[in-house]
Amino acid sequence: MNSLRILELETTHIPGALEVIRAHVGAYFYPREIEDARTLFQSVCTGLDSTKQFVAVEEDAVLGTMGYREESGAQGAYNLTYVAVHPEAVRRGVGRALWKTVRDELVQRDARIVYTWTSPLPYTQGPRTFYESLGFSCTAIVPNYWQDGDDLAIFSLRFDACGFPKRGPGEAEAEEG
Ligand SMILES: CC(C)(COP(=O)(O)OP(=O)(O)OC[C@H]1O[C@@H](n2cnc3c(N)ncnc32)[C@H](O)[C@@H]1OP(=O)(O)O)[C@@H](O)C(=O)NCCC(=O)NCCS
Repeated sequence: MNSLRILELETTHIPGALEVIRAHVGAYFYPREIEDARTLFQSVCTGLDSTKQFVAVEEDAVLGTMGYREESGAQGAYNLTYVAVHPEAVRRGVGRALWKTVRDELVQRDARIVYTWTSPLPYTQGPRTFYESLGFSCTAIVPNYWQDGDDLAIFSLRFDACGFPKRGPGEAEAEEG
């Protein structure tokens, strides 16, 4: 794992990143999400989408991906985008390495809260444990969101509650003054 690099997604990474997601279709992702991911990744690489997507690369092979996007209607709120590690590379710290890069950028951006969307059904037990290991907890359920019988489980992480820096209105000026 020493040669693992976390890089910003580039066009050359797209086939590998899609393959990581495709490898989980039927287990964690719906088939329709492949085309959604392709559209997002292409838009990111051509600058049409402000999402920041990363890949974990080892010897030119894409082992995983994770990104974030800012919610336009909220202050300091971010959503994780396409979180996946290839099944042959799971439990080797790839997901945690991707998160470390994302988390450091969100701290730089003074993020207040970050969300990730999953499901409460047993098929997501692994990812839910992964998110909990990073400090996320389930804060909302939207019934039948993904499809009938498969709810949306929103996991969130308050950065201030984790000891990350937080400033309230006017505090920045007070600190600097
Ligand atoms: C969830 C996922 C991204 C985790 O990536 P990963 O590289 O395997 O995770 P890491 O090796 O960095 O694990 C970090 C910690 O998370 C927890 N964890 C990760 N996967 C877990 C699993 N399947 N079961 C239980 N705990 C898990 C553990 O605490 C782990 O630490 P440890 O290995 O020291 O015990 C990966 O399993 C995956 O791609 N799953 C399928 C796709 C998916 O569900 N994406 C999210 C959609 S919402």
